[in-house]
Amino acid sequence: MRETHLNAHNFVLPLFVSEKVHQRRPIASMSGVFQFPIKEVADEARAAQDLGLQAVLLFGIPEQKDEQASGAYAEDGIVQKALRAIKSKCPDLVTITDVCLCEYMSHGHCGVTRIDGDHFHVLNDDSVELLVKTALSHATAGADIVAPSDMMDGRVGAIRAALDAAGFDQTAIMSYAAKFASAFYGPFREAAESPPQFGDRRSYQMDFANANEALREVALDVDEGADIVMVKPALPYMDILWRVHERFGKPTAVYHVSGEYAMVKGAVEKGLLNERDAVLEIMTALKRAGANIIVTYWARELARWLRE
Ligand code: PBG
Repeated sequence: MRETHLNAHNFVLPLFVSEKVHQRRPIASMSGVFQFPIKEVADEARAAQDLGLQAVLLFGIPEQKDEQASGAYAEDGIVQKALRAIKSKCPDLVTITDVCLCEYMSHGHCGVTRIDGDHFHVLNDDSVELLVKTALSHATAGADIVAPSDMMDGRVGAIRAALDAAGFDQTAIMSYAAKFASAFYGPFREAAESPPQFGDRRSYQMDFANANEALREVALDVDEGADIVMVKPALPYMDILWRVHERFGKPTAVYHVSGEYAMVKGAVEKGLLNERDAVLEIMTALKRAGANIIVTYWARELARWLRE
């Protein structure tokens, strides 16, 4: 009588690849998660595929940051190199890339900024230009799906047009369509070395009090050509996930984020929760609520547990 079944193909494994490490480095805030050097990332991707996973989501940590995020769209940028390495070792694994500028910007914001006295602005259109360059360079290096996570307006349409014009009409877009300004991204910012140096992300990420706005944001991305729409974070936003799935009927993704992971890990390490039971319950609930794709740091373990 069970209505909801998990499958290893539902899960996407995030991989952090860093130009600054020579061997895998554990991320202190996220036990069990690592930054990988370029020379290890293809083996890691291969291991994920061997476990039955179908897709990885790549985040890059560059050696140098600047005010134009030039590492994000450099031909020999960290993600571009990782893509080539992964595609040569496991050509059938689906590669998804995070398209954002925060890891490459010296100030850590997701776009180009202008400072006026005490205020700063993120310049939407200037940022979109750089995001388009980044998405194109990822597609050129072998990305199957680009995943813009910046929340600038108009970026999905601009990326779609540029990909099509360059002959990448088969490259899909998974947009972080309803991404909330959340306290639960804290541990990730250590993992990706991308905390904002001033201000916060509330001028471009969504107010967590708003649901109708989330649906409007998703509608815009769908109109602009998003193939997959994402809600993020996961558990505190299951109402949004359900409504997005019901209303748009698009392939719907959810990102179970670093803070959500760290909360459960912390409780497991204190002996308060059984990890496997808790994680299987969370993931089943997300799928029941409408997620077709779940990005989770437990993807490997889930693939293993589902085989047993
Ligand atoms: C932005 C990005 C973030 C996450 C994924 N992409 C951080 C942010 O918006 O501050 C968060 C993922 C997580 O917390 O696990 N490049």
